[in-house]
Amino acid sequence: MSKPYGILGAGRFLHGGDYNPDQWLKTPEYIDDDFRLMRESGCNTFSIGIFAWTSYEKKEGVFTFDWLDRIMDRMAEEGHNVILATPSGAKPSWMAHKYPEIRRVDRLGLREPVMPRHNHCWTSPVFREKVHTINTELATRYKDHPALKMWHISNEYSGECYCDLCLARWHQWLEEKYGSLDNLNDLWWGGFWSETFTDWREIDPRNTAMDSLEVDWHRFTNFQLADFFQWEAIPLRKITPNIPCTTNFMGANEGLDYSTIAEVVDIVTDDQYPCFYIDDPDLVKSAVSVSFKDDLFRCFKPDRPWMLMESCPDATQWRLPKRLKRPGVHHAEMLQAIGHGAEGTCYFQWRAGRGSCEKFHGAVVDHSNSSETRVFQTVADLSKKYEKLTGILGTDIKSDVAIIYDWDCKWGFRHSGGMPSDNYAYDRNIQDHYRTFWEQGISVDIFRSERDFSGYKLVIAPILWMLKEGVAERIKAYVEAGGIFVMTYCSGVADETNRVLMGGLPGGGLREFFGLWNEEIDVLDPGSTVPVVGVAGNELGLGTLNGLHVRAVSHLEGATPLATYSGDFYAGSPAITVNHVGKGKAIYVGALLDVAGLRDLYGPIVASLGLEKALDGTAPKTVATQKRGDYVLLENFSNEPATVILTGKYVNVLTDEPAGAELVLEPAGSAVLVAA
Ligand code: GAL
Repeated sequence: MSKPYGILGAGRFLHGGDYNPDQWLKTPEYIDDDFRLMRESGCNTFSIGIFAWTSYEKKEGVFTFDWLDRIMDRMAEEGHNVILATPSGAKPSWMAHKYPEIRRVDRLGLREPVMPRHNHCWTSPVFREKVHTINTELATRYKDHPALKMWHISNEYSGECYCDLCLARWHQWLEEKYGSLDNLNDLWWGGFWSETFTDWREIDPRNTAMDSLEVDWHRFTNFQLADFFQWEAIPLRKITPNIPCTTNFMGANEGLDYSTIAEVVDIVTDDQYPCFYIDDPDLVKSAVSVSFKDDLFRCFKPDRPWMLMESCPDATQWRLPKRLKRPGVHHAEMLQAIGHGAEGTCYFQWRAGRGSCEKFHGAVVDHSNSSETRVFQTVADLSKKYEKLTGILGTDIKSDVAIIYDWDCKWGFRHSGGMPSDNYAYDRNIQDHYRTFWEQGISVDIFRSERDFSGYKLVIAPILWMLKEGVAERIKAYVEAGGIFVMTYCSGVADETNRVLMGGLPGGGLREFFGLWNEEIDVLDPGSTVPVVGVAGNELGLGTLNGLHVRAVSHLEGATPLATYSGDFYAGSPAITVNHVGKGKAIYVGALLDVAGLRDLYGPIVASLGLEKALDGTAPKTVATQKRGDYVLLENFSNEPATVILTGKYVNVLTDEPAGAELVLEPAGSAVLVAA
């Protein structure tokens, strides 16, 4: 149940962006213009000081906050929210020179040069002390300031450091986790290639032969980030206990387990820069991946709203070709986030700088300093829309379907060798399952395998590679109680240290439970296909589906085959099975299916469960539909107009007109309806 939290949901959508007045102190007339333009744009929320450390502490230990005092006061006068940043995202040049140990050491063991941002060591006591001091100064100075509404801790934490201090911390972390080297050697299968360790200091994280080590290194890296966040937050949480703390995430990322970092933030915030080019044949795929990420992040803290901290009002300067955002696209992108539970959408950046490498990055105010630009007007129009949409604030999203997305599974699968697990394969795979629900406007919750899934009607676990403690038991209890659990090839393969489960796959008792033994897995060239043919009279009514290049070769041990492979030496063997257990069903999908095949698979399941769809009506597959409370948000991710048929009675919230029986969305058009 999503409730207002902090500034989120408190009466208005947050709309604004990263604002860097510290770069304009010598031309205060532009700062005056900023406040006028902010008013004109209808924006209300600004993240300040993200990389401003040098402006506060030009000389070590000598702090100046005059400029920020003035800005904070003006923000308060205007009724704007300030999300005040801690400046650790970019350390002052003097600091990086004076204390080289705060700079990272790379994988080759080289200390990095003085780089501009995001490259500090996670462990350095010197850097931690400097951060603690500046954060304490900021919190003490602004603790009672009416404009201060949230802390923006650092910026997009990421990266690894291999300095002696970080390595010592790694060894300590391993010792705390495994207790003894003997235990670690056993669990990591240390006899392989003579990789048995006799001293913790021998464990080099760059050893790519040991997949258990690689998985643990990812875990450790995320532990370091979360730990640094908590370190930064100590003075903030002590001095300003009522001001929530966040740090901005970076969407889907191979190495960053945001589910772990989400545990230490008060509010989940994300940055997104999708490729929404409306003439892109893969536009729907991009839209699906953004929705997937939004649902994943929404579920980190299901009881609170989340917000988009950064997005771009126009073209990003780092993506080539640097294509302008086509009309409609920006509103569709923002409403999509709102539809998935966001209660704020902000930008990088409010005003484009005059110099340095992001000066041509999209901004609400460009170098013309004008409010007449297309981008400014688009943003101002969105503010007006948000005023009409405040009824959405605090509304719920209800999902009867859950998908398990688990970083441990992703890393275990990725690092095991011999698996169809190139970069992002795990994500692509899961998103294909998700897409079939997206296309129908069926809301999906997404979370890792530790989360309780007992309340859902349908749970899908693509590539549930790693079986963590208690998960197999919870799957069994869920199905016995009446749930439908769908699991794919490459599931139940390994334990938490990534050692293969013995006794035939899927392990952990799931072989018996699914009534099937997956003996082998055939991994062919991408592009290879095999028809997967429904068994006559199968209960899902499956016909012929397109099986792709990954095929679990299995034997029935009690399950009922729903479809079999029609080619190769395993022709006739089960590709999709169901085992009826208790009141529920355990479905095993051994074949990697294309999206059309997944549609065919889930169609009858959706129908049998009577799953609720966002829209009472029908929309083309390019149209995203999301439901929040009584509101339905629609976005057309296509360069063709889309005709949406409305069966239910709706009012078009943006025009206050009855919506009628048909709604035509322009290319990249969007709309918000409310049940009449
Ligand atoms: C983000 C970053 C911003 C800005 C932006 C440009 O990743 O947080 O500071 O650099 O990218 O797209």
